[in-house]
Amino acid sequence: MDKKIKAAVVFGTRPEAIKMAPLVLELKNRDKEFDVITIVTAQHRQMLDQVLELFNIVPDYDLNLMKPNQNLWGLTSDILLETKKIFEDIKPDIVLVHGDTTTAFASSLSAFYARIPIGHVEAGLRTFNKDYPFPEEINRVLADAVSDLHFAPTEGSVKNLLESGIKGICGSEGEDLCSANLCSTNGGFDKQRRIYKTGNTVIDALLYTVKKDIDLDFIDLNPNLKIILLTSHRRENFGKPLENICDAILEIVQKHKDIEIVYPVHLNPNVRNTVFSKLQNIDRVKLIDPLDYAPFCALMKRSHIILTDSGGVQEEAPSLGVPVLVLRDETERPEAVDCGCVKLVGTDKEKIVSTVGKLLDDRDFYNSMKMAVNPYGDGLTSKRIADIIKARFSS
Ligand code: UD1
Ligand code: UDP
Repeated sequence: MDKKIKAAVVFGTRPEAIKMAPLVLELKNRDKEFDVITIVTAQHRQMLDQVLELFNIVPDYDLNLMKPNQNLWGLTSDILLETKKIFEDIKPDIVLVHGDTTTAFASSLSAFYARIPIGHVEAGLRTFNKDYPFPEEINRVLADAVSDLHFAPTEGSVKNLLESGIKGICGSEGEDLCSANLCSTNGGFDKQRRIYKTGNTVIDALLYTVKKDIDLDFIDLNPNLKIILLTSHRRENFGKPLENICDAILEIVQKHKDIEIVYPVHLNPNVRNTVFSKLQNIDRVKLIDPLDYAPFCALMKRSHIILTDSGGVQEEAPSLGVPVLVLRDETERPEAVDCGCVKLVGTDKEKIVSTVGKLLDDRDFYNSMKMAVNPYGDGLTSKRIADIIKARFSS
């Protein structure tokens, strides 16, 4: 029998935890094949803990690194130094990282320095613009550069990896890298191959969570009003762009008396200071703390429109059939835009107000965006990733 594969899974923020939890559970379920070690940097604290609790994950290592209003330099060097000790101690066969956060970048660099193979989950997302999103575009480029296995969610992300020069060894010449046949080349597993189209684990997490029966009474929603759900936290929107978003909200609630805005405000003080100074105590604008993942999914499902600059929300909402307006000028997630259920509106006040107005007033326009599509996965991504790692490390 093959020896167990020792897989260290590293994550630290809310979205990484949501998207890595299904993979952790899948690997743990296959305990004859995998020895799983979970390492949380706790780049986020409260927003991470609620996800760990939901998925019943008790980390083996909790670095507890979050500091109030932390900066990129301090966090990056803390993660490098702390993960070094753990990697040297446990000597995993593979380190799995996720996405584009400082945790993903610094822990993959650390594993590379320790000469440990790296698997990058949600590899290949790109805007090809180094400043948007900042610093995530460069975090994911660097994580991809040092990774050995790239689990790309979509055909577009496979192509981005190839364009980024992650070619080298990635399957037979002429082979369709986006084909459904993920593991085999000419009937066998190609251990040289580096890119796999797997779907996104976010859909595994969403399907696990939306079936829960969640009571939203604690938010005190008015049943006679349509909900517009808002989230915003991106660094490049700090300052004027976030102020524009808040000004747009003020105009929207003034113009449309049949809606209420529900805004779970991210814990980053750069977000909270602006949002509370602009939107506190405004009629039909509910500023609440970040919601736990299960109630947040229930609220997305109940919303009429979602306004967001979040990556994860752009991937989840299309599955729930809720139109999404993205408060950014560029996105690394073009698939849902191509399907028609997500539109980029940027942070220009007039554009936000007019597009929300059109969605509220023009039923045909609303219906054209309200479709349940699932371009990001089928709920089986974690299983696929586990199968690939197993095949890659089996003797
Ligand atoms: C981080 C990620 C971003 C991701 C986002 C998801 C980086 C550079 N940024 O941004 O890619 O989209 O998470 O939400 O990796 N805070 C708390 N409690 C929490 C979480 C945050 O108090 O549970 C506050 C702290 O003051 C912390 C600050 O928010 O210092 C910023 O957290 P940080 O992870 O550095 O940045 P985010 O904006 O959350
Ligand atoms: N989310 C949540 N509670 C909230 C807001 C968002 O659980 O109050 C979830 C959301 O469903 C998605 C993830 O958090 O899965 C997205 O996180 P965030 O927007 O912070 O980061 P991004 O995806 O932009 O990196």
